[in-house]
Amino acid sequence: MTATPGRVVWFTGLSGAGKSTLASALYERLSAQGERVELLDGDAVRENLSRGLGFSKADRDTNVRRIAFVAGLLARHGVTVLVSAISPYRGTRDEVLAGLPNPVEVFVDAPLSVVTDRDVKGLYLKALAGEIEHFTGVSDPYEAPLAPDLHLRTDRKTVEVCLTELLEHLGVRDVANA
Ligand code: ADX
Repeated sequence: MTATPGRVVWFTGLSGAGKSTLASALYERLSAQGERVELLDGDAVRENLSRGLGFSKADRDTNVRRIAFVAGLLARHGVTVLVSAISPYRGTRDEVLAGLPNPVEVFVDAPLSVVTDRDVKGLYLKALAGEIEHFTGVSDPYEAPLAPDLHLRTDRKTVEVCLTELLEHLGVRDVANA
């Protein structure tokens, strides 16, 4: 028997834009509704599957390809996979997404000035001071999607509003707010 393929919801955007927050919120909501769902978060992946990789283009591409490989395995078994990774290079993103079942690209977007102000992890301060090399948005590129399936401006909308838009886009009945 072949399982109905799941889907891969791929959150891309700058550090601090809100990818993990939205992916976690979506994860909680889908799990609560009984959906088989898994979350592959860049920070967690880098501690395990991609331990030892850095932030050169080659290493980021390797990281993104590894995430996509695991996402594909899970999705082919009917799991909804949520990926949260900066994944800054458009070409690599487009390539891996094209190989995944039912991909949904979500651009989690907030201007650099906003994520720098938020500085959730304190990394922008260090990057701007030149203490972290190749920092996305500061000293390394971020290539925004040209035609994302969903574009969420997290500086203009609350997490709850973004989550509602995500659920609508995915065609998931929003049981909590029904
Ligand atoms: S990706 O570019 O390979 O997709 P990923 O999402 O896995 O990146 O990891 C990004 C996280 O690593 C950031 O949220 C931040 O906590 C940390 N980090 C450390 N150094 C850098 C850097 N030079 N550029 C971006 N993020 C960095």
